[in-house]
Amino acid sequence: MKAAYVLIYILQTERGSSPISELSLMRILDAALIVSGVAILAIYAVLSLSATFAGVHTIEVNATAGPRGLPCAQCHPYIRDELGAGPALTAHLRAANNTNYTTYLAAGGIAYNSTANESYNGAVQLRPVVYSVDFRDDTLGDNATYDEGDAAYFYNTTGNRTWEKALWSVTGGTFSPTGVTSRESLDLDSSGTVEAGEACLLCHGAEFFGIDGTHTKVVVRACDDDRCHGNANRTWNDYRLHGNESYLTVVSAGKHLSTPPGNYSVHETFYNRSSQNNSSYADGAPFGVTGGNAGPGGGYISQGHWTCLGCHTGVGAALNITQPTPFPHSNASASRQRYL
Ligand code: HEC
Ligand code: HEC
Ligand code: HEC
Repeated sequence: MKAAYVLIYILQTERGSSPISELSLMRILDAALIVSGVAILAIYAVLSLSATFAGVHTIEVNATAGPRGLPCAQCHPYIRDELGAGPALTAHLRAANNTNYTTYLAAGGIAYNSTANESYNGAVQLRPVVYSVDFRDDTLGDNATYDEGDAAYFYNTTGNRTWEKALWSVTGGTFSPTGVTSRESLDLDSSGTVEAGEACLLCHGAEFFGIDGTHTKVVVRACDDDRCHGNANRTWNDYRLHGNESYLTVVSAGKHLSTPPGNYSVHETFYNRSSQNNSSYADGAPFGVTGGNAGPGGGYISQGHWTCLGCHTGVGAALNITQPTPFPHSNASASRQRYL
């Protein structure tokens, strides 16, 4: 402490200001210590106060509730209100309320078969199965193409309607049950239905996209994600999960849009050109695989989804058009002149 006084004393003298006595220096420093002590106490008090009223002002992800503990709509009410009407919201709410679908997302699903004939624990069974991203290079149904440890999820038809994780064993030639079961739900307030404020995580929850390491567990994915509506490279969202075959077009919109002219879409140029640009949103390699809609630079998803937004968002414009005064042709002897 003494050294500090001396240092300040020297500094003061060197800068040419009048030297102050050591006694007054001590008083100043004592006062400074008291002030900072009070400040530290105040910070502690505020922290415990905010912990008591923790909620909307806690931006850190909650350790137990995870991203589900963040009340999105409290900070982003304009987005909830934007989503608050229209067929797109209805469709996404239907998806968010489908717990087979949310489980499929969280499991890294790429395909679903309600009547899969797979060997489970040594016996061939007719069961609904979700195949995870591990099966991306395999032929589903041909277990000679499966690799050791490939994870599939078997539906528990008799018990509590959960999905059980099972791992393929090459030597056993069967899926070995792990006992780990799940059924993901976005009904955070347990009201029985997923509302608009809860649906945010369907498109923004890191857990559904197999991405770790984001601070708040909130990420931005896009319409043309592999497991949403597909893209030029992959369509991994299985229409059979949505209970109606007409959803085939819904899950593969990105595929159709990127098909060369003459087949499906005249908007292919629009989509493929915007896919050649990176967006500002990280790709993050969902479930360890680079997204099919990753931009050319790598690391980021492309701007391809802006094509979807181009047709599927309604931007209102209020036009006030002033019509020109019509020429009446009423004066037969008007002098001849050039038009401007
Ligand atoms: C405590 C307030 C708060 C809460 C709660 C909150 N956010 Fe945010 N969020 C913010 C702020 C602040 C930003 C940064 C805004 C900016 O960059 O302009 C942000 C940014 C974002 C972004 C943009 C990220 C990007 O890379 O551009 C997304 C997506 C997002 N929030 C989604 C969510 C979702 C989903 C939830 C609920 C799980 C949520 N937020 C809850 C305050 C909040
Ligand atoms: C149907 C999927 C979907 C749902 C549901 C959804 N979002 Fe998004 N959100 C997106 C996409 C796609 C983008 C990126 C758009 C772009 O390229 O700018 C985005 C962007 C954002 C951004 C960053 C852009 C900005 O305006 O700052 C925020 C914040 C955000 N969403 C919050 C929310 C919140 C909060 C909810 C729930 C009330 C929600 N989102 C629901 C798909 C969705
Ligand atoms: C050129 C304009 C255009 C583009 C670009 C476009 N769409 Fe569409 N989309 C439409 C039209 C038009 C419909 C039919 C609407 C109807 O029949 O009510 C449609 C229907 C859909 C539907 C089915 C809705 C339903 O309820 O059956 C989905 C899902 C969809 N589009 C998603 C996408 C996605 C994802 C992208 C981007 C990869 C995209 N669309 C790009 C114009 C477009």
